Amino acid sequence: AAVKKYQFDIQVKNVSRLCHAKPIVTVNGRFPGPTIYVREGDRVLVNVTNNAQYNMSIHWHGLKQFRNGWADGPAYITQCPIKTGHSYTYDFNVTGQRGTLWWHAHIFWLRATVYGAIVIMPKEGIPFPFPQPHREEVLILGEWWNNDVEKVVKQGNLLGLPPNASDAHTINGKPGPLFPCSEKHTFAMEVEHGKTYLLRIINAALNDELFFAIAGHNMTVVEIDAVYTKPFTTQAILIAPGQTTNVLVQATQSPNRYFMAARPFMDAPVAVDNKTATAILQYKGIPTTLLPILPQLPSPNDTEFALSYNGKLKSLNTPQFPANVPLKVDRHLFYTIGLGINPCPTCLNGTQLTASLNNISFVMPQVGLLQAHYFNIPGVFRLDFPDNPPTPFNYTGAPLTANLGTTRGTRLSRIAYNSTVQLVLQDTNLLTVESHPFHLHGYNFFVVGTGTGNFDPKKDPAKFNLVDPPERNTVGVPTGGWTAIRFRADNPGVWFMHCHLELHTGWGLKTAFVVENGKGPDQSILPPPKDLPPC
Ligand code: C2O
Repeated sequence: AAVKKYQFDIQVKNVSRLCHAKPIVTVNGRFPGPTIYVREGDRVLVNVTNNAQYNMSIHWHGLKQFRNGWADGPAYITQCPIKTGHSYTYDFNVTGQRGTLWWHAHIFWLRATVYGAIVIMPKEGIPFPFPQPHREEVLILGEWWNNDVEKVVKQGNLLGLPPNASDAHTINGKPGPLFPCSEKHTFAMEVEHGKTYLLRIINAALNDELFFAIAGHNMTVVEIDAVYTKPFTTQAILIAPGQTTNVLVQATQSPNRYFMAARPFMDAPVAVDNKTATAILQYKGIPTTLLPILPQLPSPNDTEFALSYNGKLKSLNTPQFPANVPLKVDRHLFYTIGLGINPCPTCLNGTQLTASLNNISFVMPQVGLLQAHYFNIPGVFRLDFPDNPPTPFNYTGAPLTANLGTTRGTRLSRIAYNSTVQLVLQDTNLLTVESHPFHLHGYNFFVVGTGTGNFDPKKDPAKFNLVDPPERNTVGVPTGGWTAIRFRADNPGVWFMHCHLELHTGWGLKTAFVVENGKGPDQSILPPPKDLPPC
């Protein structure tokens, strides 16, 4: 195993897209930021030096950070921010994981422009469990605002409304030629006829689940969230913010230029899409003046496609890559997801949108929760997050007014080391139903079941897949439905769990688990590094 060192210089740079130039926060002046390229087993040192007038913190999304929450990165959860003029070195080992993950700023909305890919190659001499591709390419899907993102969010908060939606989606930071002034901001990938390519697709968008397709070409899904899957072929993929998907593409169509395109899956009753991002799959030797062919994407409300696509995702589950699904559950958790309205004296119309789990809207602390836990600092959080919602009700059918009444608090749940946990996430009709991509830090989990309507604890568990369910770090809880996940709590620390729609995270759709130390010598949280940013 090697030691890989990276220098991340946080700096503001002028970037122009859609005919507008604006200063954005970047890593090393690059947008998207640099790719971290490592091998399973490597140690990684990323020195982050903050030369921007914003507090910064970087999260290595999907890396388990075993016993090492100090390198996880969410601001005020595992560390305080890196202040202007200061540095912090994220020091972590990449153990037992290989595939595509990503990194992003984990403070306020700064991940809008501060993000990049993490590629973990298998250990030397260990091949992929699928045909070796001729070449590979990272495709990061994102969003672009013409206005300053911070201003957009503040304006929304002041009005008590959601901030303005983005102006375009992007592929590798580029919207593609369907947008004004964007001919030169188009990502193109050249392929040779007859060869196979591995695409590492990442959804770094702030607020949209996305469909992605390539005109004329099927894709074979082989990995999600850095876990190998049973391969299956599809015309389009669905990818939620936070998720990654690796696909194989065979360049066997008639040599031409084809669009790759990404556009939102908006199952909630919203909007027309005018934000489709495109990039070009260019066969070698074809003139670049030819007009590319557009792919067929599922329509923005194609819930049926979403359900059937997600249903096809299964862990590879071979002796080499087993799916170790917990069969026995020590701790049952049931969390409702609700969006609502709360009074807000400082907002222009006196109310504010809010989001909650079990009717609790999370309040960000001023001190890192991991520090508070490790050093026994009192008064930072309470360990009384309820295992169940305050009152059981008809979650997706009851009238809105029946179930409002959210309280606020920094309330966490304590989990015994090495116990097995089942968590059912239930969407409700508090205010509106919408699909929510839930992300758990420090772990992968198995998605053992999902369904529409209310979760039925008597009938639904019988239908769980406990053999080869997809294993991942982010899962979309369907609109007006539920998702059940299982994991073994073998990573001590304080681990954030939140909706990966930045809008909802900001409204309080988050909590954290405190996983206790075990008794063995390798079962406790490692001591914090000396340069951990002080609060
Ligand atoms: Cu990618 Cu806590 O997030």
